[in-house]
Amino acid sequence: MTGSRTSPHGDAGGPRHARLLVLGANGPTGRRVVQQALDRGHRVSALTRHPESFPIRHDRLHVLAGDATDERVIDAAVAGADAVVCAIGASFTRRPVQVYSASARLLVEAMTRHQRRRLVVVTSSGLGPPDPDAGVVGRAFRLLMRQYVGRTVYDDMAGMEVLVSASDLDWTIVRPPGLTDAPGTGYAVADTEIDAAFCAREDLAGMLLDQLDDDRFVRGIAAVATPGLRVGAGYMLWHEVLKR
Ligand SMILES: NC(=O)c1ccc[n+]([C@@H]2O[C@H](COP(=O)([O-])OP(=O)(O)OC[C@H]3O[C@@H](n4cnc5c(N)ncnc54)[C@H](OP(=O)(O)O)[C@@H]3O)[C@@H](O)[C@H]2O)c1
Repeated sequence: MTGSRTSPHGDAGGPRHARLLVLGANGPTGRRVVQQALDRGHRVSALTRHPESFPIRHDRLHVLAGDATDERVIDAAVAGADAVVCAIGASFTRRPVQVYSASARLLVEAMTRHQRRRLVVVTSSGLGPPDPDAGVVGRAFRLLMRQYVGRTVYDDMAGMEVLVSASDLDWTIVRPPGLTDAPGTGYAVADTEIDAAFCAREDLAGMLLDQLDDDRFVRGIAAVATPGLRVGAGYMLWHEVLKR
């Protein structure tokens, strides 16, 4: 674990109420980001291609229908926001994936154009350094996911990281390990890696929102995980790889 610390809330004073744009808002992490942001008093614009299935209603919530790879959609959405959290995701596929890098490119351009600064994006611990303590099975699983099962997704996430980190924005790249719908029990963050294999989406959502009031990871990468969370390999394989 490198410089890991537990952070239930940002330490830079009280939370600021922002007009927050959430991409990937209708995903299991995005929905939690939206709900927690509303609970914290933010105004939220939630972008989804499927507004009819978006379950949250609130007088401080504006559900935007659109595709995050559409320049006009992103330009208009960014114009009405102070900060952006991007939790867009794609299922593993053998076909090329572009949604991470395409949306990142449009976000960086639009935020620069509209002079918006704070951008927090989710990629994956699969882009980070391998766990030096991982056994043979762990190393083989990582290789299988990175080079075969999820290669096109990881490649596009890497493209997103390049675009975001080359920008002049106040960006933070957040890399969780395997996500689960287990209840959040508090997260740990670190500069590079955390000795934990899973992250509860509830904790990830809280961590993403905490970044709005915390500058420790501005223009940096943060690993995040839920320490002590245990999930069976079979559950993970079924719910997060095969069933998606
Ligand atoms: N699952 C894991 O174990 C795992 C591990 C590490 C990192 N991650 C990353 O963590 C993030 C959250 O993952 P998750 O599993 O909670 O969510 P997810 O199932 O990957 O869903 C993300 C949402 O992105 C939206 N989306 C996809 N393409 C879009 C497009 N072109 N325009 C607009 N929206 C689009 C979809 O909503 P609509 O269809 O409603 O538009 C989808 O519900 C993702 O970045 C994922 O890659 C996941």
